[in-house]
Amino acid sequence: MCGIVGYIGHRKAYPIVINGLKRLEYRGYDSAGVAIANGSMNVIKKQGKVIELENEAKNHNTHGTICIGHTRWATHGEPSDRNSHPHASNSGKIVLIHNGIIENYDTIKAELIGRGYVFHSDTDTEVLVNLIEDIKIKNDISIGRAVQLALTQIIGAYAIAVYDTDRKEELVVAKLGSPLAIGIGENFSEYFIGSDASPFIEYTKNAIYLEDGEMAVIKPNEEIKVRKIQDGTITESYIQELELNLEQIEKGGYDHFMIKEIHEQPEAVADTLRGKVNLKDSKISISGIRDNIERFKNANRIIIVGCGTSWHAGLVAEYLFEDLARIPVEVEYGSEFRYRNPIITEKDIVIAISQSGETADTLAAIKMAKEKGAFVYGVCNVVGSTIARETDAGTYTHAGPEIGVASTKAFTTQITVLAMMAIKLGQENGALSKSRVKELLKDLQEIPKKIEETLKSEEAIKEIAKVYKDSPNFLYLGRGYNFPSALEGALKLKEISYIHAEGYPAAEMKHGPIALIDEKMPVVVIATKKGYYEKILSNVQELKARKGKIIAVVNKGDTAIRAIADHCIEMPQVAEELSTIISTIPLQLLSYHIAIMRGCNVDQPRNLAKSVTVE
Ligand code: M6R
Repeated sequence: MCGIVGYIGHRKAYPIVINGLKRLEYRGYDSAGVAIANGSMNVIKKQGKVIELENEAKNHNTHGTICIGHTRWATHGEPSDRNSHPHASNSGKIVLIHNGIIENYDTIKAELIGRGYVFHSDTDTEVLVNLIEDIKIKNDISIGRAVQLALTQIIGAYAIAVYDTDRKEELVVAKLGSPLAIGIGENFSEYFIGSDASPFIEYTKNAIYLEDGEMAVIKPNEEIKVRKIQDGTITESYIQELELNLEQIEKGGYDHFMIKEIHEQPEAVADTLRGKVNLKDSKISISGIRDNIERFKNANRIIIVGCGTSWHAGLVAEYLFEDLARIPVEVEYGSEFRYRNPIITEKDIVIAISQSGETADTLAAIKMAKEKGAFVYGVCNVVGSTIARETDAGTYTHAGPEIGVASTKAFTTQITVLAMMAIKLGQENGALSKSRVKELLKDLQEIPKKIEETLKSEEAIKEIAKVYKDSPNFLYLGRGYNFPSALEGALKLKEISYIHAEGYPAAEMKHGPIALIDEKMPVVVIATKKGYYEKILSNVQELKARKGKIIAVVNKGDTAIRAIADHCIEMPQVAEELSTIISTIPLQLLSYHIAIMRGCNVDQPRNLAKSVTVE
């Protein structure tokens, strides 16, 4: 849940690390810190965002060609200067940055206190750095070996980077359960580390992603050797060529990443579809499905796991798979699924949906499903992420980096992948007629254009945002494929504007939430022509009769809802099965503009982090 960055080589290290931390702030922004090696160790850390650290660092010497840095999302110990990383050992010689959680830190801490160690923070990380020091001194061994031995005593998750002033030209890194990428400079002359590759993308396109249980001692001008923590044997590490570019991770003229990412959706969805849909022959080629087609055809059921927005995409997939491919589906929150002893058989397929590919609850659900013999399929955005690697097969969404904490383009591209999968399976098992497949593929191809058209409502949406920005509550209603849109719209609003919002199936309203309706309650209703229009129309009338304020998302040319709603946002007509992709767009824009008008930090809302790598 934190971000780690490091550099060792011939360049000035601090600017590389500070820029890298800014790119990783989506992982947490409770505090930030760096340790720069220049003879001794210069540790600078500060509660708050990376900018606070940068301001503080102006008063310090930041020269040096080795630096490690950390941006924190607090788990053990409140956000504060003293709980910020890097943490130093008692002698001050070893410094360490850590992303993850040491579960058995309490017992180790007690033992270390018994041996005279003193702790200056409430973190689990400070325990690890002192354990390493203790082992190093007791056994008179190198820092690399001490890290290795210490990690065999650790229960939990970590991606760490360690520096020891006794070994001036090396950095030790290790990983279990949290991501760690190592960028490799030309001829191994320099190395970069990061929780993902974004901190070093302008310096190298070559990287190794450490696997769980691996570590390396990194020295400039020496070829990297990755070893197993367990027994020190050298593993075969694979140097990947990175596809990411700098422009993709910067704001590109927009005020915030979130709005940039909302506007990127036509292109993102086009990228998701690219090379997979062949209209002429009515074919969909998804290698993960093609290579496992018999499994999918013989599956008893599909279980979908995810969290937050990805769980909402799972709900859409439930409708899609059952409707188009006639395969029974269950949708589960990763966090609930893993702890409720579910019945899973070898004939079940588990689909894990995750933008980051690092969400701890989803990851744990996958591991459990695999242990029980299920085939696990991943739908992830981040290439090389843990979930992408842990699953048996999968499809990337290719949305490009999503930096804003509120998920936008990840959601629409996830649904695009899931729709392609459902159509493909419906085609393969005969549930869909040739003509229906043809129509659906044509509609899919038109989605990017239709998103573009929908984005044109932004100015009208801003006007609506002005009217309702101070409302304390919002209700979102939808039916069928647009019920998950209602949930997603409500989630977007609460997470970035801190307004309380609920999403409901429109027909459920009369079973309780209707009691909330009065002239102060804005109700966003998704009322598209193809999704039970008449029923929704009646729901809108019921709301109006109770003086609710109706903001309706309608199809172009709608007259009946327009006649009774207070505000209408138009979207183009689209096949009902694909309508979530479009109806979500106005809801993203509405929450963005309301949050901006309320002065909220939309890219880094309070208490949240982009990837939730803790339970
Ligand atoms: O990376 P993931 O898709 O696994 O993340 C899951 C959720 O944490 C995420 O969707 C979260 O709900 C977003 N902040 C929603 O905008």
